[in-house]
Amino acid sequence: MGAKVKLTSSRKLDHLRICAEEDVECGDAGFYDIRFVHNALPECDMGAIDLSARFLGHTFSSPLFISAMTGGHPGTRDVNARLARTAEKFGLGMGVGSQRAALENENLTDTFAIVRDEAPHAFLVANLGAVQLRDHGIEWAEKAVEMIGADALAVHLNFLQEAIQPEGDHNAIGCFAAIEDLCRNFRTPVIVKETGCGISAATARKCWGAGVKAIDIGGWGGTSWAAVEAVRAGKGSSARDKSLLSLGQDFAGWGIPTVVSLAEVLATGSPVIASGGVRSGLDIAKGLAFGADLCGMALPLLKPAMESDEALARAIQAIHQELTVTMFLTGSAKTIDLRKAQVHITGRTRQMIDKDNPARVKR
Ligand SMILES: Cc1cc2nc3c(=O)[nH]c(=O)nc-3n(C[C@H](O)[C@H](O)[C@H](O)COP(=O)(O)O)c2cc1C
Repeated sequence: MGAKVKLTSSRKLDHLRICAEEDVECGDAGFYDIRFVHNALPECDMGAIDLSARFLGHTFSSPLFISAMTGGHPGTRDVNARLARTAEKFGLGMGVGSQRAALENENLTDTFAIVRDEAPHAFLVANLGAVQLRDHGIEWAEKAVEMIGADALAVHLNFLQEAIQPEGDHNAIGCFAAIEDLCRNFRTPVIVKETGCGISAATARKCWGAGVKAIDIGGWGGTSWAAVEAVRAGKGSSARDKSLLSLGQDFAGWGIPTVVSLAEVLATGSPVIASGGVRSGLDIAKGLAFGADLCGMALPLLKPAMESDEALARAIQAIHQELTVTMFLTGSAKTIDLRKAQVHITGRTRQMIDKDNPARVKR
């Protein structure tokens, strides 16, 4: 196995451990700025609330989507298996982490393929970086989808992380053309997904124009890859490590807050997965009220997924309970009804999405 291939794989385990053990959350996704207007006469039965949601022609038992996290190192297989078993049990959709490591070294295929074994009926999303798509073309996209029998492929955008990683790909030229080419020639639906910096209206328009079938916001305010890379660098002692540590810390504040990105992207099209800093069933309800189709969570599910099936099931039940209570108190019998629920938008989020704010970014 080449050194570069080994590095891709061992980085996967580093990321999992760092995310589970260190403080890698940064900023404010904007959910605190959204408040539902309480409906004191909701005229609906909390026991009959329907959490089901639709996305890309598939019906899910709830709008909670298990965001891409792992695979690619033997030590990650059990976590992927547990996430997939839980997705199957609860009728949820799930993404796997970047499949690059297994595309570089087929001995790692099983760390991803296990998800289809554990979740024969679930909606599964394959995952490939835009840089790998550009460099290896449709062949890797096909292999990634085949590896897990995927229902869709997420092409992830992570240029902040690439910029900070010492071994990162620092050349983004040709990635958009590769996405366009993929959408033209691929039968599996393509989702474009950010990983913590959000997507602007302008980028969303380009993506819809290229033929992507959905956008996953991956906004700022949750897991920060700048913070993760800063922690990684902080474990070393060389001058280069020190400079990467400070670069990571400086850019932990970079990105479009999730709720702002959600408003921007939804102004250009749908369907959309809201993710990045979604931390509760209440946040999911807020994302749906804005118009998201599903809401993705990664970090909050990681620790329970590393612990046990029971811990993960408990975390998901708590999220569903919060969502159910929010729907009841806004008189929303179905998830789609949340779009009609009234909200107050305050603070920085309001300023950033206010059409009349002269400081607002020009589109
Ligand atoms: C441990 C971990 C690994 C991740 N790996 C990937 C990945 O390989 N590909 C990807 O598209 N996103 C990856 N993500 C990003 C998540 O899918 C998600 O976009 C981001 O963490 C924001 O959600 P959160 O704030 O709920 O964690 C990863 C997240 C975590 C926590």
